[in-house]
Amino acid sequence: MTTIERRGRRVRVLYTPEQIAERNAEIAREIGARAGPDLLVIAILKGSFVFAADLMRALYAAGLSPEVEFMSLSSYGAGTESTGQITVLRDIDSGVKDRTVVLIDDILESGRTIAYAKDLLAARGASKVYTCVLLDKPGKRAADIDADFVGFTCPDKFVVGYGMDVAHAFRELPFVGIVEGRAGEEDTDNGGGDGADGDDTAG
Ligand code: IMP
Ligand code: MG
Repeated sequence: MTTIERRGRRVRVLYTPEQIAERNAEIAREIGARAGPDLLVIAILKGSFVFAADLMRALYAAGLSPEVEFMSLSSYGAGTESTGQITVLRDIDSGVKDRTVVLIDDILESGRTIAYAKDLLAARGASKVYTCVLLDKPGKRAADIDADFVGFTCPDKFVVGYGMDVAHAFRELPFVGIVEGRAGEEDTDNGGGDGADGDDTAG
């Protein structure tokens, strides 16, 4: 079990860069098989930016020709629990009418974020809206939604890295990890609260 130290914290590796790359290649092939070659990929910022960038290249390797757009949605208030209220902070530029869309997010947790985005794009006339997440945390689902494409089913712990943050930190880690505690201290349980100041965007 690999652990690194950064910012005075210990972060335990949950999914390695190699495991993630392997899943990305598999997901890209699954998307190609179900969604066809001409897609509009919409990445929900900020947390999905690394996953989306790697997935775009995996889609290319799988023979697809996706276009990409970005959308920022707010959902988190001060804490790490979703408040349930979603608003569009930054919208996509392209129209989606009659197009096949693949919505990309880092984590599916309550499901409110992706359900909101999916309904919005369907209302704008997208012919099909698929959903794709790197991590599925099924334990806290509130909205009636499952992702069409999932990288990993994830334990109900607060994770960071590979684009995901706690209080804006750790997005640069090339792996997905769990913040375990202060460097040099005993392990503490990660229930999502320790140091998890949250983010004011669903990123
Ligand atoms: P939900 O599905 O609407 O509850 O929101 C999922 C969003 O919450 C994800 O896109 C992340 O931005 C954020 N999130 C949920 N769990 C975590 C976590 O463990 N680490 C970092 N962000 C998280
Ligand atoms: Mg997010």
